[in-house]
Amino acid sequence: MAAAGPDKPRILVTRKMMPDVERRIAEQFRATLNPDDTPLSTAEILAQAAGHDAILLTSFDKLGPDFIPSLPPSIRIIATHSVGYDHLSIPQAKAKGIAVTNTPGVLTDATADIAMLLVLGAARGASWGDRMVRENRWGATTLISPMGFDVTGKRLGILGMGRIGQAVARRARGFGMELHYHSRRPVAPSDDCGACYHSSFESMLPHCDFLSINCASTPETRGIVNARTIALMPDNAIVVNSARGDIVDDEALIAALGSGKLAAAGLDVFKGEPNIDPRYRSLENVFLLPHIGSATPGTRSAMGHKCIDNLAQFFSGQRPTDLLTGE
Ligand code: DGY
Repeated sequence: MAAAGPDKPRILVTRKMMPDVERRIAEQFRATLNPDDTPLSTAEILAQAAGHDAILLTSFDKLGPDFIPSLPPSIRIIATHSVGYDHLSIPQAKAKGIAVTNTPGVLTDATADIAMLLVLGAARGASWGDRMVRENRWGATTLISPMGFDVTGKRLGILGMGRIGQAVARRARGFGMELHYHSRRPVAPSDDCGACYHSSFESMLPHCDFLSINCASTPETRGIVNARTIALMPDNAIVVNSARGDIVDDEALIAALGSGKLAAAGLDVFKGEPNIDPRYRSLENVFLLPHIGSATPGTRSAMGHKCIDNLAQFFSGQRPTDLLTGE
């Protein structure tokens, strides 16, 4: 569905966006929208990209490693409707002279809310509690079973103290948690919420009754939560992940949840999602969500508008605010 306006840049939009976002896209660009929201394969996106100047895509698009090298020469910019950009190779984009932008800042609070929901849901048994009510098993509750775990006064380790990690810290502080974090560098004391900095992930782990994963997926962080690092956590710890699934080694996490080394986990993101490791579905002590960190109308709308702002800046000759392919 391409809108008219011959002088306007031609934009391929891979997924259905919020109505206000689609309206603005259609006004400002010659847009090829996806009104049925059909998930597109890499081959389909590449085929549709021909004749377009830009692609507005998402981290939910399944893009193969040859996506950027295979793009038609007409594509000058990719705006990803996500803060994470591990689905795109920035070096490949730079090599091909394609600009890439993302959407930092506007999904910080929504994602931190989900991280906190995972902390609470995993600790207090949101999944099994919900199932007990729905399955009419309320009668099975007694004063000693089932039981969750306290959050107040517990130690929370935050892996990745960027915008979202800091927003998680602010929320966790309100729950009376003792805060620890590991990032490549310490953040300014005004932004750390009183959290204790650990210069290595390993040195933080013995202090983590809860571990919240809030870092980007990079070659350094992929698989960093694994059998070796989980073993460094206290017994009965809880792991929550609202960042990217591949930061966790599923085999190790599932083994630790089964053995009782970990008491519970809360996961909004999964390696290979939506085709998650099926064993998660049958574990009682996991609280699972379908990657909804940014899924509120206000947040998704703000993400869409940020993509449009970046595209508009690019096509008017300005440097896009959220350019990832700068020097
Ligand atoms: C992000 O913006 O990276 C969220 O995970 C949604 O993709």
